[in-house]
Amino acid sequence: MPIRHPLLVDLPAVYAVEQAVFGSHVYPDFFFRQAFDLWRGLFLVADSGAGELDGYIVGAMSEEAGVLWIVSLAVRERCRGQGVGRALSIALIAAMRARGAEAVKLTVDPGNSGAVALYSRLGFEVVGEEAAYFGEGEARLVMRLALAGR
Ligand SMILES: CC(C)(COP(=O)(O)OP(=O)(O)OC[C@H]1O[C@@H](n2cnc3c(N)ncnc32)[C@H](O)[C@@H]1OP(=O)(O)O)[C@@H](O)C(=O)NCCC(=O)NCCS
Repeated sequence: MPIRHPLLVDLPAVYAVEQAVFGSHVYPDFFFRQAFDLWRGLFLVADSGAGELDGYIVGAMSEEAGVLWIVSLAVRERCRGQGVGRALSIALIAAMRARGAEAVKLTVDPGNSGAVALYSRLGFEVVGEEAAYFGEGEARLVMRLALAGR
């Protein structure tokens, strides 16, 4: 699975993945331009050369020393179950490790069993849960992967 950093010209294709995967509950298109400028080294796409991207992942720094975050991950439905999400996550975690990260955090909907399974298989552990993380009815688990010693 070819994983690479996006080019500026890829951003509409990244947004197309976002819309296909998340419907109306999406980051706006300009978020991806900001992510490109702010965190390009932590922004990866899965490009099988099929003319549209298979998926993307965005990471970011945080205020907590040594802790980086996975901000968003999406894989097109037709590409799921083939290791794309895992490959994107592993590549991003490797980039984070190369920057000296000691831990990676993310939030995930507790009802999103596929994503929770993916992160658990990668070694993430649940370290918290907020019932209204993104507002009423928007619970999120906080998951953390310790990198030190791995
Ligand atoms: C979650 C998501 C990124 C997984 O992508 P994917 O390419 O299908 O995942 P992979 O094929 O790489 O699977 C990786 C691991 O997770 C597990 N997994 C993935 N989806 C699963 C599901 N629906 N049910 C159970 N396990 C699942 C696989 O068994 C696999 O384990 P393995 O590596 O031990 O074989 C994808 O389903 C998606 O984009 N979902 C919608 C958006 C989303 O939920 N994003 C994450 C928000 S936090």
